[in-house]
Amino acid sequence: MATSPVPREILLEPGGWEDIDAVMAVMDDAFPPCFGERWSKSQIAGVLPLTGVRLLLAHDGGAEAPIVGFALWRTVSDESELLLLAVHTSAQGQGLGRALLEDFAEQAIADGATRLHLEVRDGNPANRLYASEGFDVAGRRRAYYRGVDGERHDALTYVRMVSQ
Ligand SMILES: CC(C)(COP(=O)(O)OP(=O)(O)OC[C@H]1O[C@@H](n2cnc3c(N)ncnc32)[C@H](O)[C@@H]1OP(=O)(O)O)[C@@H](O)C(=O)NCCC(=O)NCCS
Repeated sequence: MATSPVPREILLEPGGWEDIDAVMAVMDDAFPPCFGERWSKSQIAGVLPLTGVRLLLAHDGGAEAPIVGFALWRTVSDESELLLLAVHTSAQGQGLGRALLEDFAEQAIADGATRLHLEVRDGNPANRLYASEGFDVAGRRRAYYRGVDGERHDALTYVRMVSQ
């Protein structure tokens, strides 16, 4: 994949096993602990080797610079699911999340996906991002997330059909 320049001198490039600790650092910073959306390191490690899984990293200032965001997805046949999208709080609000999402869509479509889907907690600000990038609400999973205090939160599922 060609690396993509985006605002704030951010470089997007593929990642792998060796990046798992940097990915976890972004995850731990970006996701508020209260909603139960965050993945554990063992969950990430379990998904990375699966067929069709891709990790995209955002470096702040070049390939050797710190990782400030990532997207993780899996493409199987003509479907691609965005599993995680996160940007470090120090880099949020500057277009990076949108750039990662657009790169995910571009790569998934290039890999043959005609249906992109994802789930996100109802009330997460990312809902606005997904809606603005052509994703439509397809369903609701009630009490899907369990927060640290035991409170349950619904998830919304989104789909974007790709005409080819
Ligand atoms: C969701 C997330 C990846 C967005 O990253 P970002 O770099 O801040 O996003 P962008 O700057 O590209 O903003 C894109 C859009 O997201 C929406 N958005 C992002 N943060 C928002 C907030 N706090 N409040 C309202 N809208 C918000 C807006 O629609 C925004 O578009 P706009 O600037 O044109 O209004 C980031 O907030 C994050 O890591 N959140 C925690 C992890 C998470 O919940 N991930 C999603 C579920 S997997």
